[in-house]
Amino acid sequence: MAKGKKRREKVLITGGLGFIFSHVTEHLVKSGYDVAVIDNCSTGSHAEIVDGSFKFYKEDFAEKGAWKRVVELKPDYLIHAAGITDVDYSIKHPEETFINNVMCNLNAFEAARKLKNIKKLVYVSTDEVYGECEHRKHEGEIIFPRNPYSCTRAIGSLMRYAFDNTYKEIFDKTAETRKCNIFGPRQDTRKIMPQIIASLKGTHSIPLQNKGEGYREYLYVKNIPPLMELVMKKGWRTYNITNGEGFTVKELIAKTESLTGKKVKTHPSTRPGHDSAYRMDNTRIVTELGWKPLYSFEEGLREYLELEGIPVVE
Ligand SMILES: NC(=O)c1ccc[n+]([C@@H]2O[C@H](COP(=O)([O-])OP(=O)(O)OC[C@H]3O[C@@H](n4cnc5c(N)ncnc54)[C@H](O)[C@@H]3O)[C@@H](O)[C@H]2O)c1
Repeated sequence: MAKGKKRREKVLITGGLGFIFSHVTEHLVKSGYDVAVIDNCSTGSHAEIVDGSFKFYKEDFAEKGAWKRVVELKPDYLIHAAGITDVDYSIKHPEETFINNVMCNLNAFEAARKLKNIKKLVYVSTDEVYGECEHRKHEGEIIFPRNPYSCTRAIGSLMRYAFDNTYKEIFDKTAETRKCNIFGPRQDTRKIMPQIIASLKGTHSIPLQNKGEGYREYLYVKNIPPLMELVMKKGWRTYNITNGEGFTVKELIAKTESLTGKKVKTHPSTRPGHDSAYRMDNTRIVTELGWKPLYSFEEGLREYLELEGIPVVE
């Protein structure tokens, strides 16, 4: 390194080609970090973003010993987001989902404790770990996952407490984000927002789970990259990630119909293990880390519809 030239901080992202973390990868590259990604290019991934601006390892992070790559690369920060993320798929294929997601989690925590000089491991989780939310859940409440996907994410949450507490090398050097439903460009077509978009664009009919009564909070994906950088730099606890803007699926459909003047087609469907509501309290991320979203739900939705070529008429 040339004398006087500051070393760029290294960030390694597992699942860095997926829907949400492809945006995070691009943001951290633009922000000047030395970025590496491990992704096996399975469902939801966007290999088209691989352009030489970051190091890319097409590897299965669920393999026994996959942590060795991380140790070899010696990142300052490790963001662990890789995993099977589709609830319906996890219900049909629980064995594959558990082996994949739990092994990915284990490799992330193993890597962190073996690295010794790591500045932070950020574990990426979900509001679904709380299970049914009769009120806004805060981070100290019991986790009670009720489908295979959310159980694999909750296992990672428990692993984090266990590793952080046991290995002094990473004590207070781990953080966790529990995100609400994220939507926006690059999302997998099986998720609710892209299904609504497909229906608005053509004849696609959406399987409406449990009469569309399921309540979820939604946040636009472009809020996430700066937020992940904030948690990576300053976070050391578990943080709920939501702006508190929640809707039932029926309300979400009505909102997009009124913004676009088009109709969304649906048909009834049921999903076992379906929770009727996820809602979280965001006080910690707002007051302790000073987080403010860049886009409200409606600003994000308007931009997303326009990017998808669907004119907003209201
Ligand atoms: N999308 C949401 O609304 C949402 C909400 C809360 C939390 N999350 C969490 O955010 C993270 C990313 O979610 P997403 O929606 O962007 O998912 P995604 O499915 O688009 O991305 C997951 C990525 O992980 C990769 N991957 C899966 N298994 C792998 C393995 N064994 N080895 C290497 N790479 C592997 C996939 O190829 C993909 O690129 C996940 O941890 C998910 O639980 C997502």
